[in-house]
Amino acid sequence: MKRILFVDDDSGVLDGLRRMLRGMRHEWETVFTCSGAEALRLLEQSPFDVVVTDMRMPGMDGAQLLEEVMRRHAETIRIVLSGQADGESVLRSIGSAHQYLSKPCDESTVKATIARALLLRQWISEPTIKQLVARVTSLPSLPSLYAELVAELRSAESSIQRIAAIISRDVGMTAKILQLVNSSYFGLRQRVATPSQAVAHLGIDVLRALVLSVHTFAEYEGLTLAGFSIDALFDHSLAVGALAKQVVQKAGGTAEQANDALVAGMLHDVGKLVLASNLQDRYAAALTLARRDPMPLVAAENEVFGCSHAEVGAYLLALWGLSDAVVEAVAFHHQPARSAVQSFSALTAVHVANALARERGAAPREPSSIDDDYLAGLGLFDRLPGWRELADGILCEGVMQ
Ligand SMILES: [Fe+2]
Ligand SMILES: [Fe+2]
Repeated sequence: MKRILFVDDDSGVLDGLRRMLRGMRHEWETVFTCSGAEALRLLEQSPFDVVVTDMRMPGMDGAQLLEEVMRRHAETIRIVLSGQADGESVLRSIGSAHQYLSKPCDESTVKATIARALLLRQWISEPTIKQLVARVTSLPSLPSLYAELVAELRSAESSIQRIAAIISRDVGMTAKILQLVNSSYFGLRQRVATPSQAVAHLGIDVLRALVLSVHTFAEYEGLTLAGFSIDALFDHSLAVGALAKQVVQKAGGTAEQANDALVAGMLHDVGKLVLASNLQDRYAAALTLARRDPMPLVAAENEVFGCSHAEVGAYLLALWGLSDAVVEAVAFHHQPARSAVQSFSALTAVHVANALARERGAAPREPSSIDDDYLAGLGLFDRLPGWRELADGILCEGVMQ
């Protein structure tokens, strides 16, 4: 039984939610309260899996409440349910909320948002890792790209295209911008798939506020681990994104699958970024173990953390509300046969692209392998030579350097 706490000073809103969620009573225990202070008291009494809060409330507002929840109960999933008039306070909550829903919110959106955020927690056994992922509010960005972005936003002639191009080259910024724009508060009704679409939708003024005032993106400050380089990880991620998109196109997939593959390819190793930048010593131990034994890095991570970067990344992106197709592709990029979806998808493309990129020495310490049985099961094994040609093409263009 999952426990969900709803906080709103408007009893009408709480009554609506209570009615809306009655059908879920066998899976979710729902508790309703009208103030932040009372919410904190309830959390102190017994833990909740999810807190969904209004923003503008007398006394403690939603942003303050979520800050406290993050500090005291790191594992709890934090969702904002807010009216459009609360713009400024929503911006203040960007550091502490996982997702943002817009009032009025329909039943299926509320249910789906909570269910999706909860879905992947079960994969992470160690409580400290669960807490760590739920506490991540931004991911390290490359200083050069961060500086470029700030300069572009400060310029009198900022261009949306140039801003999109900068964000698309940075793993951390890509993940964060998609978190924001896939929330119903900032987003369109239809799903926003790529960083370029996200940037175009948010517009320069909102981006300026997000980056220059709220400091939504975090500049990375020196991460030195033997055998781990953020620059190399970003290059590899860009290459896998570009190749995965081409794999979908060559296989005759849909435009949506191609976009999902591009984004999932770019974000597939985001879990490494989370682990390496937050748990440096333990990540160094995993790297050493992989080198010394030698064993695949995924196996070494499993020994050290009880899960791998694939599950950590997928959990973060699910918490942040990215699409199921992207989350799925990130979760299973090393073991696609574990996915429930056994037909050609963004996952297939990311698995292939990652393995081909690694074969070509993009990340030389990780032994790579394509899951031949998985491809054969999909009837796609004979496509491999064509995909290798694509990989060669991208390598020639220098994306994989
Ligand atoms: Fe990976
Ligand atoms: Fe990778």
